[in-house]
Amino acid sequence: MNWHLDVKSTEEREEILNVVKQLGPWYQSFDLADWLKIEGIHDGDSVLACLDGLGFPHDFSDKIVLDVGCNAGYYSFVARSRGARRVVGVELGPHYVQQARYLSNLLGLDVEFINGDAHRIDASLGLFDIVICTGLMYHIQDPTNVLSRLSAVCTDTLLVESEFLLDPALSSMARFIEGTYMDDPTNWWIYGPQCLEGMVRAAGFQSAEFKGFYREPHGEHSPEGIPKGGRGFLIGKKRG
Ligand SMILES: C[S@@+](CC[C@H](N)C(=O)[O-])C[C@H]1O[C@@H](n2cnc3c(N)ncnc32)[C@H](O)[C@@H]1O
Repeated sequence: MNWHLDVKSTEEREEILNVVKQLGPWYQSFDLADWLKIEGIHDGDSVLACLDGLGFPHDFSDKIVLDVGCNAGYYSFVARSRGARRVVGVELGPHYVQQARYLSNLLGLDVEFINGDAHRIDASLGLFDIVICTGLMYHIQDPTNVLSRLSAVCTDTLLVESEFLLDPALSSMARFIEGTYMDDPTNWWIYGPQCLEGMVRAAGFQSAEFKGFYREPHGEHSPEGIPKGGRGFLIGKKRG
């Protein structure tokens, strides 16, 4: 995204660089100026280019948006920059919320960031035209519960980016992770595309369509010996 900070004074730049360092480690990367490149694992710009090709909205004009598991706010800022009227980000990790609030202020992109758990989302947050849910569903222990909660606050569109089973023969199934996957004990599920479509419909969306994979590590295995999932994108709609 074209978020470019225009800060001329050396003192101000140094102060920003210090705060960014103190707020680390970062998961999401942000390229904000030639002197301010926040390095994380997740390169949102390149993932967004893939998601854009799979139907991620280019226009959020006038929409009210919820970004669940928002981390440092990359996709919240995308929605706001693409015209959203109001954006709320919910994130479990307090230190990510601090990062998100700092960037919101720095970039002048007004987003309300809340430290909270997707398992507790309810209508007290309000209603949202669009719910963004990227990189979250496999971290969710109780996915049918969370999808029902997202459905209850969503009036139109659910955007899900996730890890998905690559084997077409397993598309209607999900793999439960007992232990770790990719050395991460917070990974609970890898869904087949048809399986997650069905779960999204069962949660109250009239339609759910897997839009395709953008990363397909066929034949590769995690350190635990589990076949690696691919990354893909799914869109749920409240009305067909
Ligand atoms: C893989 S990262 C994805 C972050 C971001 N959505 C993205 O696509 O770059 C998963 C994020 O979800 C957060 N998370 C995990 N479980 C959560 C939960 N139950 N409720 C809210 N956030 C959660 C993590 O702290 C982390 O920031």
